[in-house]
Amino acid sequence: MHPMLNIAVRAARSAGNIISRSFEQQDKVEVELKGTNDFVSNIDKAAEQAIIDTIQKAYPNHCIVSEECGVVDGSDQDYQWIIDPLDGTTNFVKGIPHFAVSIALKVKGKLDQAVIYDPIRGEVFTASRGKGAQLNGSRIRVKQSKDLNGSVLATGFPFKKKHHSDAYFEMFKTMFVKTADMRRAGSAALDLAYVAAGRVDGYFEIGLKPWDTAAGELLVVEAGGLVTDFVGGHNHSQSGNIVAASTKVLKEILKDIRPHLGESLSK
Ligand code: IPD
Ligand code: CA
Ligand code: CA
Repeated sequence: MHPMLNIAVRAARSAGNIISRSFEQQDKVEVELKGTNDFVSNIDKAAEQAIIDTIQKAYPNHCIVSEECGVVDGSDQDYQWIIDPLDGTTNFVKGIPHFAVSIALKVKGKLDQAVIYDPIRGEVFTASRGKGAQLNGSRIRVKQSKDLNGSVLATGFPFKKKHHSDAYFEMFKTMFVKTADMRRAGSAALDLAYVAAGRVDGYFEIGLKPWDTAAGELLVVEAGGLVTDFVGGHNHSQSGNIVAASTKVLKEILKDIRPHLGESLSK
């Protein structure tokens, strides 16, 4: 394993231990609202600190961008860690056992290493640039489905941006009638990891942040899939509008969402 991935996995495991221990003791979880329908807990912050401590111990000069604490500048601008310490906070605070730790490393602006750790199932999804993607050390691949017939797609509702509801549910409907079924499980990181593992045939969501998708994007690409914005371009880390699937399924998803984009989602 690449030494930087090794550190990422160590950091993800230590955060995951904090999260799964606290999941059993909900009375110790303190929740606040940081935005519209946007929860954060003391556990998100404790997990984040554990990750940052592990990374900084190994690489004190690297830069870090993390959901709860923002940018931690380092003298070496070539290395940037992108962290979501707890993806699926709503599930976590409601007692639904589906959430993950997501850590990615960009080197000179390119995704290089990624880990997504599901502490409830003990699943560690990893990827290194040019080296494929793995689940608990075994190779995973995107399902090479040729269309939406018989497929299951993952998605996320735009619950923090409800002004997109009309456009989103039109897209949803267009695809839903063609698929076998859809899933809204509540963790963008795991949605992308499940695309990489071939558990779902594709995924789309509006308005995500870089920490939701960075690690998942490398996993999908290294597992043989594509990740784009809503018009097939590469603006998804800026716009937060993301589609991930095999080449053929992605093409069909883009075709289905195109009529519902309007100006604000056309990127
Ligand atoms: C959220 C989850 C959710 C997605 C949201 C994300 P958080 O991340 O990934 O599935 O629908 O858009 O913000 O807030 O739990 O880290
Ligand atoms: Ca997130
Ligand atoms: Ca989070």
